Amino acid sequence: MKGLLLTMGLLLLALPARADSYEEHDYILNCSGCHRMDGTGSKNVPSLLAMAELRGKPGARAYWAQVPGAAQAPLTDARLAALLNWLVQRFTGQSPNPPYTEEETNRLRRTPLRDPVAQRIKIRDASPR
Ligand code: HEC
Repeated sequence: MKGLLLTMGLLLLALPARADSYEEHDYILNCSGCHRMDGTGSKNVPSLLAMAELRGKPGARAYWAQVPGAAQAPLTDARLAALLNWLVQRFTGQSPNPPYTEEETNRLRRTPLRDPVAQRIKIRDASPR
């Protein structure tokens, strides 16, 4: 009995560790190999912390879904939308409003970017909405 109670107690303690979202799992499995766990990237991959400088800029929302890493990820449209909602909140401090939807990611990933770097510069240098 004592052993059973102890086991149950330990199981309860272990629960919060499993409460993380599947968005986070999708990020770890599909994105962190390039972007790293903390999003800081590497010599060839820009830091996701820089997403904040595009916040509120026209075109940023579409760009974030159209970069090859996101658009071509082996995720359903719904999972990609959920992942982007999580990602944008995490790295810009602001949830996308309205949230990305399955229909939107489906549409955006059909037109991937030819030159993501040029597109980013264009968005960054545009005046905020
Ligand atoms: C193979 C490496 C690689 C993987 C995997 C990858 N990315 Fe990227 N990501 C990049 C590179 C490189 C860029 C810079 C733009 C470009 O050249 O594509 C980028 C840029 C981005 C940006 C633009 C940020 C900004 O403000 O400029 C977002 C958002 C993004 N990635 C999200 C994701 C998501 C979400 C995933 C996982 C589903 C992912 N990436 C997987 C390499 C990767």
